[in-house]
Amino acid sequence: MRKRAYAPYSKYTVGAALLGKSGEVYLGCNVENASYGLAICAERNAVAQAIAAGEHAFEAIAISAAGPEPVPPCGMCRQTLAEFMPPETPVFSENHRGKHVRWTVGELLPHAFTQRFF
Ligand code: THU
Repeated sequence: MRKRAYAPYSKYTVGAALLGKSGEVYLGCNVENASYGLAICAERNAVAQAIAAGEHAFEAIAISAAGPEPVPPCGMCRQTLAEFMPPETPVFSENHRGKHVRWTVGELLPHAFTQRFF
């Protein structure tokens, strides 16, 4: 998916694969814009693909990007993942050298904002 990223500004290509409970995999890449703040991350793109396909429950997400360490999802993506995935859901990330890590949604975003607060 990284190869499909539209990242002419940062040149930082990211791919994501989201595994639905159905077994279907939803793919996403980052999509940038000349108005930089409009960039859509690979993870949120994958979630949007899944929701548009009608799936709302997920087993795991995997992220791929080049760099010295596997990249963790940004804060906005963490909140998006927390919307659809329980805290124990695994988040895998791998860099271009095959170095990989596993976090959980709850580790990445403890005390997520949810509807419980209102
Ligand atoms: N980006 C992602 O797609 N996912 C992340 O987890 C971190 C950042 C994208 C957004 C932007 O297109 C580029 O990486 C540089 O920030």
